[in-house]
Amino acid sequence: MTSVPQTDIAVRVTRAEKIAEGIHLFEMRPKDGGELPAFTAGSHINLRLPNGLVRKYSLCSDPAERDHYRIAVKREDNGRGGSIYLIDNTREGDEWLISAPDNAFALPQRGDNFIFIAGGIGITPFIAMIHALKHDPAKKFKLYYCSRTPEMTAFREELSAPEYKGKVVIHYDNGDPEKALDLWPIVEERKNREHLYCCGPRGLMEAVRDATGHWSPTAIHFEAFSEADARRPDDKTFKVKLAKSGVTIDVPAGTTIMEAMRTAGHDVPSSCESGTCGTCRTRLLEGEADHRDLVLTEAERGSQIMICVSRAKTPELVIDR
Ligand code: FES
Repeated sequence: MTSVPQTDIAVRVTRAEKIAEGIHLFEMRPKDGGELPAFTAGSHINLRLPNGLVRKYSLCSDPAERDHYRIAVKREDNGRGGSIYLIDNTREGDEWLISAPDNAFALPQRGDNFIFIAGGIGITPFIAMIHALKHDPAKKFKLYYCSRTPEMTAFREELSAPEYKGKVVIHYDNGDPEKALDLWPIVEERKNREHLYCCGPRGLMEAVRDATGHWSPTAIHFEAFSEADARRPDDKTFKVKLAKSGVTIDVPAGTTIMEAMRTAGHDVPSSCESGTCGTCRTRLLEGEADHRDLVLTEAERGSQIMICVSRAKTPELVIDR
């Protein structure tokens, strides 16, 4: 659990290349040689860009290999500029500062059967997961990878290797919602006590959540790319009153409650910062929230809020902080 991302490991970029339309792969190794910190599949690092931005990226290398990490970055033309900066300005030999890996999307200690559903660049944590599972023959997985076209599909060759035959389905929809992956046959029955992991655009995650209402919530795991995925163009400024101190804070459009609190000097623990892990769960005392997380149940939504992504429908919220 982190409150402010630490980026204190110096690495050198040893590979920077386009691997699909709009997607670039970066490999990094310790600047002074040796090994990088161990990580578990599903982990991410925070990367401090030379322009001061800090961005979170899932590791997509084999956790057994400690001499390098890999990340894959999609050029987000409508994002906050981190991906474009990274893709346009990074060259092999550059030095970066990264954090130690943290994991808000870990595989469970117990559980032998997994369904992975990836959308677009959401494939990255699953690359580390399938590497990790191949070291344990008792663990079985099936990966459904939704992509628009073969040209936009990162790791297509790697995932077409004979070892993944029958374990990986790549589904192309050409951007047509009518051709989206049919989730129901995948989730209708939970025959082998599978755990389902989903990472991708918010629409895909919401569709998976809606299709798995009959599953145990403890068997469903989500990871979003970033809280930016939950931003909307018509977002407005609202106020948040912190009940414990009585302080009221403005939350402008483009800023989350969590960011506004940190700017005002409040320490706010977090992990995913994308509305999927539950770390920032906060009691909602007054006002109506505009919920944008994938954690709270309908019953919880009247009295709780995930402050890393959710906003307000009323001019002011009062929260138990
Ligand atoms: S920090 Fe994970 S849900 Fe808010």
